[in-house]
Amino acid sequence: MATGSITIGPDDLKDQNGNGNGLVNPYRARYATQSDALAIDHVVRESFGQTAPKSSAARDMKRKNTTYIVATRGVTENGEDEDETTNGTGGIARRLRSILSTSIGSFEPERSLSQVAGLVGLWTAVDQAHIVVIATRPTRRGRGIGELLLLATFAEALKIGASNATLEVRKSNWVARSLYRKYGFGEVGVRHRYYHDNAEDAIIMSTPSFLDLGYRRALRSRCLAYFAARGQTELQVDPMAYLALPE
Ligand SMILES: CC(C)(COP(=O)(O)OP(=O)(O)OC[C@H]1O[C@@H](n2cnc3c(N)ncnc32)[C@H](O)[C@@H]1OP(=O)(O)O)[C@@H](O)C(=O)NCCC(=O)NCCS
Repeated sequence: MATGSITIGPDDLKDQNGNGNGLVNPYRARYATQSDALAIDHVVRESFGQTAPKSSAARDMKRKNTTYIVATRGVTENGEDEDETTNGTGGIARRLRSILSTSIGSFEPERSLSQVAGLVGLWTAVDQAHIVVIATRPTRRGRGIGELLLLATFAEALKIGASNATLEVRKSNWVARSLYRKYGFGEVGVRHRYYHDNAEDAIIMSTPSFLDLGYRRALRSRCLAYFAARGQTELQVDPMAYLALPE
């Protein structure tokens, strides 16, 4: 387990002897480090193509109010990602790792590339947590990684005392909009012709206040449903610790 991380899962995953039911989420969320920066940039380009933000994670991470969180999964003993070795993309990953390690000569970015399955970049200003970027590698979508990244986002936002979370999303991005709606984001405005590449509108989405009891209750239920479905999950900040309800 990574230093400072905790494994979270509801009590009802345990039997009467206190043993878990064995369901363990293969994906975990942790704060990104500079060693992850190249992998983050790669996943962002892979996810957004020509429309990828021009910023670099290495530079962004040095900014005071910017935090990156990555979803990772373990690698096999020979250093290959379990998914990539089983779904046939291992060759591409190996080639990328080899290019990276040759050009950079460092083991850490190489290892990070094979582990980073998704990422979220947060910007905190005044009392809001703004999601600047969120992406799951195309080969890992539909496995709850986007949700895990949102849970980690909420945990971080609650930890720093943000009042709510906000973001902008392309009008046509129904998948992302569905994910956000699932976690209580509502549509609060439109930035017309916001995206330069195709003049598409951006929908501004925001959660209710984290102090809103109804929303806290809903968020708590969502977290519990996630852990029940995906199993014991390792995160660095426990969202449940910040979502206690009054007696
Ligand atoms: C949006 C994105 C991060 C979702 O990641 P993911 O890891 O596949 O998401 P999850 O597996 O956690 O899915 C969670 C929810 O997302 C929505 N979702 C995911 N895939 C979907 C699909 N193919 N169709 C419709 N909704 C979908 C659903 O609400 C889903 O909940 P459900 O399982 O109860 O239906 C991913 O599609 C992505 O990286 N897209 C490209 C980058 C991007 O558009 N980022 C958002 C910019 S604002």
